Amino acid sequence: MKAIIPAAGFGTRLRPLTYARPKPVLPVANKPIICHAVQNLAAAGIREIAIIVSSVTRKAIEGAVSDLEGVQIAYIEQPEMLGLGDAVRRARDWVGESDFCVYLGDNLFEHGVTSFLDAFRSRPVDAVLALVEVPDARAFGVAVLDDQGRITQLLEKPKCPPSNLAVAGVYCFKSSLFGILEALPPSARGEYEITDAIQRLIEDGGQVIGQRVVGWWKDTGRPLDLIETNRLLLERLEPCVLGEVTGSRLAGRVVVEPGAEVHGSVIMGPVTIASGARIENAYLGPFTSVGRGSVIRNAEVEYSVIDEEAEICDVNVRLQECLIGLRARIVGHGEVPKVHRLILSDTSVLEFGC
Ligand code: UTP
Repeated sequence: MKAIIPAAGFGTRLRPLTYARPKPVLPVANKPIICHAVQNLAAAGIREIAIIVSSVTRKAIEGAVSDLEGVQIAYIEQPEMLGLGDAVRRARDWVGESDFCVYLGDNLFEHGVTSFLDAFRSRPVDAVLALVEVPDARAFGVAVLDDQGRITQLLEKPKCPPSNLAVAGVYCFKSSLFGILEALPPSARGEYEITDAIQRLIEDGGQVIGQRVVGWWKDTGRPLDLIETNRLLLERLEPCVLGEVTGSRLAGRVVVEPGAEVHGSVIMGPVTIASGARIENAYLGPFTSVGRGSVIRNAEVEYSVIDEEAEICDVNVRLQECLIGLRARIVGHGEVPKVHRLILSDTSVLEFGC
């Protein structure tokens, strides 16, 4: 079985972070989102993966996954963002006659994707879709099931959802889906919808079944989703202190990678500090990840994602629920108001109290 990761989108909901870099390379738990996706697929036994990129996102995505071992990665360009159906259709020649899985490049599952692939491999079905119960399904693809667990209807973002079962970001298909995709007309919003192709498959008599997601599932579409996904991943952090720690108090699950330094600080886990980072006279609170080479000095940060080579210095308020981009700098010079919630894109500079 092969896998396709569509990752060509603009990530508009994550602006300004995605002005500088594509969403799949933004870090959660100090690893680009797309690396979690590739590793989930590899853990499920998939070795051949095609990532759908745009000409703009290709270089950054290639760079992010280049060190991953045990998988062969191909890159396929989608010239225009014409929807998921179009993204998948681009991989037709690469997939050939294989069965394949589509894994949305910005989705994460607590228990990976093995259960969906197993459901597909163990039964003579045409497709398996990951389904998750949500309180309000209006923003999702929505499935209606019969009493055998077969999907009888699929609707894209319905105003009145007929069920609370949303389609999560993993699908398994046979190569015959490409015939349907090639003949698919665009939807009212001008995109080629994968949901329309699956609905067509159902109408043609195809067996499409739903497999419930067990554990958490996150679509990292919005800023708070990134911070929450970071929290969920850090929940399972294994403590490991290999870097240099002096005059500091570490509590709970803390990772200090080799080459990282922590001096005169309080670290309340779960917190992960990547190599080359330096924490000095600082407080790091739960669910914070600090990227490679970042510096946090005379500052307090919690429940935040700090990307690589960022700098947070002399800030006398606690920073909470922040997304701080690559090489962004936050520098304090004096008294400032009490609480700040920041989304700072790469290389931004924020100065307080000057
Ligand atoms: P999304 O719509 O959630 O991602 O698509 P996006 O377009 O990057 O983000 P927004 O909506 O502008 O904020 C889900 C996944 O499908 C990919 C995206 O890159 C994302 O990984 N995708 C979507 C494509 O590869 N091509 C498309 O035409 C559409």
